[in-house]
Amino acid sequence: MNKIQVVNKTAAYAKKTLSGESSGHDWWHVKRVWETSKRIGKKEKADMFVVELAALLHDIADYKLNGGNEEIGPKTAAVWLKSLGVDRETIEHITRIIRDLSFKGAKVKTEMETIEGEVVQDADRLDALGAIGIARTFAYGGKMGREIYDPGTRAKLHKSFKEYKNSNGPTINHFYEKLLLLKARMNTKTAKKMAGERDKFMRDFLKRFYKEWEGRV
Ligand code: ADP
Ligand code: NI
Repeated sequence: MNKIQVVNKTAAYAKKTLSGESSGHDWWHVKRVWETSKRIGKKEKADMFVVELAALLHDIADYKLNGGNEEIGPKTAAVWLKSLGVDRETIEHITRIIRDLSFKGAKVKTEMETIEGEVVQDADRLDALGAIGIARTFAYGGKMGREIYDPGTRAKLHKSFKEYKNSNGPTINHFYEKLLLLKARMNTKTAKKMAGERDKFMRDFLKRFYKEWEGRV
């Protein structure tokens, strides 16, 4: 099987597995991350085979939706890639990216080891921002049974992954605990530029949200 066939088969696999998912980790999220990764990856001269496969498989079995199991994602991806005959070194690179990619708390470092990892992490994080980011965040909150907002519950800057993972505050708090911190953490120049506008849109949304909440409009 050549590289194009491997990528196409993997896209079909991700589409089949994630279609209809309702927490914002659906096939369309993966497709957007794939497209954005291609765009950023080409500019950064990354290995596009690794970038495309990591983007397509990054949410194939997310820990958040699998009882907190952090191993299931990389493992599922490895089994899939092995079945297509991808070489061991490439599989290891891709599974490392999937393992390291996720946000793990405001005060926890999540640096990527390779440019390919940086590209896919940026693309995933861009999809957490802006209008789409807002839509995904409320979809996830609803799926997890979270309240939209509670003025009495303060946002927390989590010091460990465990603390972040176990938090269950209202969805508005997620903006302060993660989303508004992402702009400053983009790895590549291209993503930094794209993040600026999306970050601004979220800040405007929050301002408007409180205005309506307080009956000022
Ligand atoms: P990551 O691997 O960094 O968590 P994902 O692609 O899995 O990235 O998706 C993260 C998205 O899931 C967030 O941007 C947000 O939309 C949603 N999400 C995750 N945790 C929460 C939460 N506690 N409250 C609301 N939305 C959340
Ligand atoms: Ni994702």
